[in-house]
Amino acid sequence: VLILIVVLIETGFFIPFGSRHIKTSNTLNIIIVGASGDLTQRKIMPAIYDLYKDKLLPDDFHIVGFSRTQMTDDGFIKKLGAFKDYDQNFCSRIEYISGEYSNLDSYKKLGETILKHDGNRLIYLAIPPDILRDVTANISKAHIVTQCACEEDKTNSYCVKTGNWSRLIFEKPFGTDTDSAVDLNYYLQALFDEHQIYRIDHFLGKETVQNIMIFRFANSIFEPLWNNHYVDHIEINISEEVKIQSRGAYFDNAGIVRDVIQNHALQLLSLLTMEPPISFDADAIRDEKVKLLKSLALYDENTYKDHTIRGVYHGYLQETGVKQDSKTETFAAIRFFIQNWRWAGVPVYIRAGKALASKTTQAHIYFKELPHKLFKNIAPDRNLPNQIIFKFQPHEGIHLTCLSKIPGKNFELVPVEMDFNYQMNFNSRLPDAYERLLLDAINNDLSLFIRHDEIKEAWRFVDSFLKRWENNSQFPLYEYNPGQNGPEQMHTFIKRFGHLWNKEYCRLKI
Ligand code: BG6
Repeated sequence: VLILIVVLIETGFFIPFGSRHIKTSNTLNIIIVGASGDLTQRKIMPAIYDLYKDKLLPDDFHIVGFSRTQMTDDGFIKKLGAFKDYDQNFCSRIEYISGEYSNLDSYKKLGETILKHDGNRLIYLAIPPDILRDVTANISKAHIVTQCACEEDKTNSYCVKTGNWSRLIFEKPFGTDTDSAVDLNYYLQALFDEHQIYRIDHFLGKETVQNIMIFRFANSIFEPLWNNHYVDHIEINISEEVKIQSRGAYFDNAGIVRDVIQNHALQLLSLLTMEPPISFDADAIRDEKVKLLKSLALYDENTYKDHTIRGVYHGYLQETGVKQDSKTETFAAIRFFIQNWRWAGVPVYIRAGKALASKTTQAHIYFKELPHKLFKNIAPDRNLPNQIIFKFQPHEGIHLTCLSKIPGKNFELVPVEMDFNYQMNFNSRLPDAYERLLLDAINNDLSLFIRHDEIKEAWRFVDSFLKRWENNSQFPLYEYNPGQNGPEQMHTFIKRFGHLWNKEYCRLKI
């Protein structure tokens, strides 16, 4: 039996639960467009290298970098080496081609290089949005993306028997509002098949984010509590210490809502609150996420004023690339409802910002007050005692807070945490999000990639307050000092609704 299992694993017919596995032994060509950029050096290439080190790439793989900067292969490898040490064997697979993004001949040259190795093609588009249309049109015209040759398997693009596949990975931003995102989707779908399009949201590759689904749907004790009978409110926080760094020109056109709320925060919310999918198939999961996004209550002329707040850090206007009269927000907090049976009446708060006190990404599910308070005189200005906290970073883990008595004579209650911490439980390296997502793209698993209708629904929701902010020059943009948790006004904002931001719960004396 053991020998049989080993043979099945080796041949790819059986994938042990929890293990990472590559499903193809065909030659793999990875083409990175935008290869001289920051993302390639910091994230994409290190992730490919870690997959190679973990034997998760086929034996025969090749990497071709393509961008404008004139460089030799060695020059490119040296540039990559500033971020990570790559071994000789890995470097021998790397080639570099320079070319103009708008020039078809450059892509023909790229195509000739790839043709040296017949095989599958994974094309990573690590490029700014303003050149995306040009680049994809040329990729298509130069036949760098080949259509799937195996008709009967066309729906999932995994052509095991008869041909090689081509897939494209797209980075955000995916449009700047509903109309532009829909337009972009039509444009891309005219060039490629939807099953070849992998829209990445790197948050979905983070271990704790994937674990939301396992936690909810593989355990019996949480799901009965996961509804408006028991949950008081939900809070998602994405705070960063860094300012906008060298990304002024991009950020000033985006703002924190487009940068992290439209995508990362709403993806986290979908996984936390969607209905159980009928299976773990990519489309079954994505159907549920779309349903959830469709049920977010849109803001109207009145609600956006009271239920959203925006801020900007002091000194933002002096950042390179930022317009002098900029009204772009670097901080936002919003409150809204999910209009469905499970969540009716449960407020959701999302808070995100740059230049804040710490780098923290967390989601909190707060449970309701007890029906009868046995312990009187609890300080009124406190948060609810029972929460489930998903810590996405730092220190990935899942925690449950409960009230406990401090040992001693008086009845003094403090919140204590029951912890599940990745590092302590598994004591192994957590794969980077990009590593996981690249492997999924190679393995044709779209579950952690965003479908076009999810993007559209997320924009529809965000547009309902963002457009109103943009059309109302009187809407306040509060200043805060870098290193604070955001503008002072965010406290009055949430207190009006009878809640407190996380971390503000204090010791409870009874
Ligand atoms: C990116 C945003 O999508 O996510 C950045 O564009 C942000 O502004 C980053 O800093 C945060 O990702 P992580 O994985 O560092 O939390």
